[in-house]
Amino acid sequence: VSKTTELLDYDLIESIAKKRKPKMLQAGFTAYPRTIDFKRMREIADSVSAYLWVDMAHFAGLVAGGAHPSPMPYADVVTTTSHKTLRGPRGAMILCRKELAKKIDKAVFPGLQGGPHDHTIAGIAVALGEALKPSFKDYAHQVVKNARALAKGLVRGGIRPVSGGTDTHLVLADLTAKNVTGKIAEHALDHAGIYVNKNEIPYDRRKPWDPSGIRLGSPVLTSRRMKEKEMAVVAAALSKVIDNVDDEKVLVEVRKDIFELCSKFPIYD
Ligand SMILES: Cc1ncc(COP(=O)(O)O)c(C=O)c1O
Repeated sequence: VSKTTELLDYDLIESIAKKRKPKMLQAGFTAYPRTIDFKRMREIADSVSAYLWVDMAHFAGLVAGGAHPSPMPYADVVTTTSHKTLRGPRGAMILCRKELAKKIDKAVFPGLQGGPHDHTIAGIAVALGEALKPSFKDYAHQVVKNARALAKGLVRGGIRPVSGGTDTHLVLADLTAKNVTGKIAEHALDHAGIYVNKNEIPYDRRKPWDPSGIRLGSPVLTSRRMKEKEMAVVAAALSKVIDNVDDEKVLVEVRKDIFELCSKFPIYD
């Protein structure tokens, strides 16, 4: 990504591709909060005669719900997990152009997998059925609205979202200004009932096992029917923890507030 905007720098990607001539270009990442220009990635791949593989594991549910551009028209291969925004059981799917199907099938079985996991396949079918319902569209759009509300709430608490915000379900927060490391934040938040993971930020000066950031996602809270108002409450609670990572009393207080909030939004009716 560009050091200044923290967005993908397609000119740089193109110049590296032209120099290295890869056989395959990959797009779709673990902690990138913005949409990817799949058309541009396709053009770059074509310019060096490379395959384009998009891993949409993170945003597959947003694609299904129409809240994110689809990589389908541009990629040769699209992979996804089924348990992130797609909201299904733990599993995965590989979608590809017809001419690649035989090779990929063979690589999966007998190459990598023994037998089919029928229980997971049935669970994925249910998740895909849910993704076809109109209510899933509302869900996907609310996931993005909630992530944006979360990012705004963090800014109010003096925490910088990487790239200034999000277009997806995730927010990458830079804690440098708070002088708190990702590892310490993750631990304190865990204690306060808020589950995030430590994460590197672009050009991180710290080490991956104790980086400068944390990564947050809105899908689970959205599944509990929380909206922007609740995201503001969560962001304020999170900021309070970051400002008081060593204060046991504050952590216990926030934990109580978070449990109270969650009890108003049960997972099942
Ligand atoms: C981009 C991307 N693809 C695939 C995966 C694999 O997910 P899992 O290990 O949960 O199967 C991850 C994990 O977070 C990911 O970030």
